[in-house]
Amino acid sequence: MLNIIIFGAPGSGKGTQSQLLVDKYHITHISTGEILRNEIEHNTKLGELANKYMSKGQLVPDNVVIDILDELFVHNPDSVGYIFDGFPRTMSQGESLDTMLVKKNTKINFVLSLEVDDKHLIERLIQRGQVSGRNDDTPETIKSRLQVYYNQTAPLKEYYAKQGKLVKINGLGTIDEIFSRIEKVIDRSDY
Ligand code: AP5
Ligand code: MG
Repeated sequence: MLNIIIFGAPGSGKGTQSQLLVDKYHITHISTGEILRNEIEHNTKLGELANKYMSKGQLVPDNVVIDILDELFVHNPDSVGYIFDGFPRTMSQGESLDTMLVKKNTKINFVLSLEVDDKHLIERLIQRGQVSGRNDDTPETIKSRLQVYYNQTAPLKEYYAKQGKLVKINGLGTIDEIFSRIEKVIDRSDY
């Protein structure tokens, strides 16, 4: 199995690069953000709860997203691998993911961290906000998403560095340039 965490700040390109990874390696894309936005769109109870946090740029509670992951594993038992996009975002999510993967007799192969400076992140998100309809792509909410990332999510890098899994990828350049940096990391290893 090939299991990848695509890691990075809001706007770093996790969703964009995930799509290319799915096309090339046929792994299952799991984006907790997309799942939650879908719940909001369908006016479910889960969506209603999630929206309270997402609209302010805060994290949805750990137990809620961990349950979503658990459920997904049940529905995709035979995948050749997974790409985790936007999960884990806290230490507790990271530890839960490790436990879930051990139960499936597998593990994370790479944590690819897309490194982009704040100036570019903000530019990309403001630009997307003009067309995306995402209610968290506003200047105020972008600021709080970045703060949440640095305070609650970025510390996970240390967790994965200690496991020897963290690979920093320069996240600036064209989408294809960035993908070829990612491909090199995956293809030169015998995961
Ligand atoms: P989530 O949906 O995960 O959003 P995010 O992390 O804020 O990141 P984005 O989706 O905005 O950016 P991205 O890194 O995917 O970049 P993209 O490829 O789109 O989470 C949203 C919210 O849901 C959270 O705030 C939280 O409330 C909740 N949530 C989700 N998961 C959770 C969890 N595990 N625990 C708790 N809460 C959770 O690119 C961004 C833009 O840049 C696009 O317009 C793209 O076209 C453009 N772009 C991409 N690459 C390039 C490039 N190379 N050059 C120029 N532009 C580029
Ligand atoms: Mg995304």
